[in-house]
Amino acid sequence: MNRNVLVCGGAGYIGSHLCEWLAAEDIGVVVFDNLDGGMAAQARWGTLVTGDLRDPRALEALFAAHRFDAVMQLAGRIVVSESVRDPAGYHEHNVVGTRNLLRAGAAHGAPPVVFSSSAAVYGDPQYTPIDEAHPCVPVNPYGATKMIAERMLADFEVAHGMRSVSLRYFNAAGASASGLIGESHRPETHLIPNVLRGHAMAVRLTSSAMTIRRPTVPVCAISSTSQTSAGRISRRSRTCGMAVRRSR
Ligand SMILES: NC(=O)c1ccc[n+]([C@@H]2O[C@H](COP(=O)([O-])OP(=O)(O)OC[C@H]3O[C@@H](n4cnc5c(N)ncnc54)[C@H](O)[C@@H]3O)[C@@H](O)[C@H]2O)c1
Repeated sequence: MNRNVLVCGGAGYIGSHLCEWLAAEDIGVVVFDNLDGGMAAQARWGTLVTGDLRDPRALEALFAAHRFDAVMQLAGRIVVSESVRDPAGYHEHNVVGTRNLLRAGAAHGAPPVVFSSSAAVYGDPQYTPIDEAHPCVPVNPYGATKMIAERMLADFEVAHGMRSVSLRYFNAAGASASGLIGESHRPETHLIPNVLRGHAMAVRLTSSAMTIRRPTVPVCAISSTSQTSAGRISRRSRTCGMAVRRSR
């Protein structure tokens, strides 16, 4: 094993699947997570360091103790409705937390960053399918924090040569083929687990006067794209869309 990756938020839903994927590729994994929304039991691969992105000293100690070939940033708050009620909290975790991470990384070799952004940066779709040329006009604090973090990444590349890719995905779904981990959030706000638990939820979404069925992105596709992105980051920061298939 010669490559080592930091996975912030690796005890969460997508992060844990990514860690399993990386470990299967014989890539060393260090998980950094405050276990606020994630679970230690899901951080089964690599080393778990419990800490908070809002704590610069914890991040300094993390980078001083390990050499990272890449950083995958998935840690943060993720519930849109909560972000509307508590914008300060969302900016604190998602913007300040990401800034602290980038600052620590820049001081320790500026490893490339794969950032879990969100399709929420686009706001209400002006056309579909959304492509990367679509205007970014987020309509809630969650989407705004992702957009600000993307901008910071671009600034860090100019200042520190820290390359990055932002993946603007949405509605991750599914479980690991190993059966060891699956779709799980705390609290569970996502559609499929709640439907499986028998919670009655409206599934019809309206967008620009058009009723759509809710598309999903398989969590294994996010894992493989994150790994590929880390390997392919060129000298310029880029935004990488993800192919999305509409669910039937
Ligand atoms: N789930 C989706 O459909 C989806 C879609 C688009 C983007 N994303 C993004 O992907 C990432 C992962 O999403 P998820 O569904 O796995 O969510 P999740 O809540 O399961 O994982 C987030 C993890 O971040 C940790 N965390 C939160 N704040 C932290 C902090 N300040 N310091 C350290 N750790 C912290 C939590 O404990 C949790 O383990 C998020 O950034 C989210 O915005 C998710």
